[in-house]
Amino acid sequence: MFKKIIPYAHELLENSIKPGEIVIDGTCGNGKDTLFLSKLVGNHGKVLAFDIQQQAITNTRNLLIAQNINNVELIHDGHQCIDNYLDEEHKEQVGGAIFNLGYLPGSDKKIITTPNKTIKAIDTIMKYIKPDGLIVLVVYHGHTGGDIEKEKLLQHLRNFDQKKYQVLQYGFINQRNNPPFVLAIEKA
Ligand SMILES: C[S@@+](CC[C@H](N)C(=O)[O-])C[C@H]1O[C@@H](n2cnc3c(N)ncnc32)[C@H](O)[C@@H]1O
Repeated sequence: MFKKIIPYAHELLENSIKPGEIVIDGTCGNGKDTLFLSKLVGNHGKVLAFDIQQQAITNTRNLLIAQNINNVELIHDGHQCIDNYLDEEHKEQVGGAIFNLGYLPGSDKKIITTPNKTIKAIDTIMKYIKPDGLIVLVVYHGHTGGDIEKEKLLQHLRNFDQKKYQVLQYGFINQRNNPPFVLAIEKA
């Protein structure tokens, strides 16, 4: 049996992230990935969790409080501004990152991740990620605007130098209704 999309995305990060590291959730939404990352890095690590929607920040905060989690910095800002929250000392120190692209489930479907901002965030994180670190993207693209983001992202990542990065795509090509897929970028 093949792994489903989210478990596969998590497994990739589980195999790479170590306790004590700083990691990034680029789109915290309802907080599930933030919670997952916070458990991976433990009490000595830290998660920077971004979202542009107050609803997402509130939902994530409530989940973290309910789970007694206190190693997360919730950042009500766009992931394209990640550079404002890291500095020189974090170069090649970030353990990994995850992005769930698309809209917040149960919320306004017009507030979506967008190609240029997503690409800027990826390129910025590449400066900070440790050697062998991973950025994992779960690409939802069935909504209006999702297809454009998918295409621009694939086009951008296809041009990554294969000597410096490995880029993986994992998904089910015979499922109906634009199923999400995983993109994972590993810094060599
Ligand atoms: C698919 S949802 C994330 C789901 C989340 N990972 C979870 O487990 O519930 C996508 C989120 O990206 C957020 N978003 C859109 N553009 C963003 C940006 N530029 N920076 C940060 N978050 C953004 C949306 O507000 C939305 O909450």
